[in-house]
Amino acid sequence: MPNSDIVFSAKSIVKTFGAGKRTKVAVDNVSFDIHDGEIVSIVGGSGCGKSVLAKIMLGLYTPNAGEFLYRGHKISNLKDHWNEVQSVFQDPFSCFNQFFTIRSQLEDSLNILKDKPSKEDVQKRVDAGLLAVNVKPSDIEGKYPFELSGGQMQRMLLARIFALRPKVLVADEPTSMVDACVRANILDYLMKLKEELQMTIIFVTHDIGLANYVSNRIFIMHEGKIVNMGTPAEVLDDTKEPHTLKLLDDIPEVHKTEWIRKRH
Ligand SMILES: Nc1ncnc2c1ncn2[C@@H]1O[C@H](COP(=O)(O)OP(=O)(O)OP(=O)(O)O)[C@@H](O)[C@H]1O
Ligand SMILES: [Mg+2]
Repeated sequence: MPNSDIVFSAKSIVKTFGAGKRTKVAVDNVSFDIHDGEIVSIVGGSGCGKSVLAKIMLGLYTPNAGEFLYRGHKISNLKDHWNEVQSVFQDPFSCFNQFFTIRSQLEDSLNILKDKPSKEDVQKRVDAGLLAVNVKPSDIEGKYPFELSGGQMQRMLLARIFALRPKVLVADEPTSMVDACVRANILDYLMKLKEELQMTIIFVTHDIGLANYVSNRIFIMHEGKIVNMGTPAEVLDDTKEPHTLKLLDDIPEVHKTEWIRKRH
């Protein structure tokens, strides 16, 4: 087995959709290693291949070419993979069923675990997950997803992650639906996940300012390729890489100085 602290290893991976003239290359000859305990942000404009790459990490897509390994092995059994690698996706409402209470769904999500916790332990872990995102368990008692706001539902996704405690989290724009204040909180929860659970986090975003704030390393994507990669300082400070400069230009003025100055 190769270096054991490597979580994901990609060697020249390619993912295309369609065939013939209509072939769309979503991920184009991408290589990287991600190590235990890192927060890696994948940043780029709409359609550059971020979510496809995230789905490859989750085992939802297999590359057409190249080699993609999780801890030195090809992803074969999805249930085993999801025992260790979990996701928070763009739309929290699509992740919860409207017809069941939030609590019952948080509890059910622990069914994926190999070592199933006892009923009592499930209750405790769900309560702890809710408290970790500052929600009193009694506040969601008997509530259904449609009774909460988008921002509250995103917290529920994070509560689920705190309860599940996966080794790796792939977070695809988990802050997109919430306002700036809640957004900063959610980022702080992600840090807490990393610190308390020594989680490896892959954070997918359009916002290079946020990436600067939370990451150990940043991958800049453009048209399926990684065009710039390194620590926030390496990628951002005095960069001349045109796609990185464009993303820096796109940061909303309101939090430009704040996010760029602040580095964890
Ligand atoms: N299942 C699919 N079938 C065909 N094309 C797809 C599929 N999934 C993604 N694509 C295409 O691959 C490209 C990359 O898509 P992807 O969803 O990774 O973009 P993204 O960087 O996540 O964008 P956004 O920031 O808007 O979420 C796009 O051109 C998209 O249309
Ligand atoms: Mg996407």
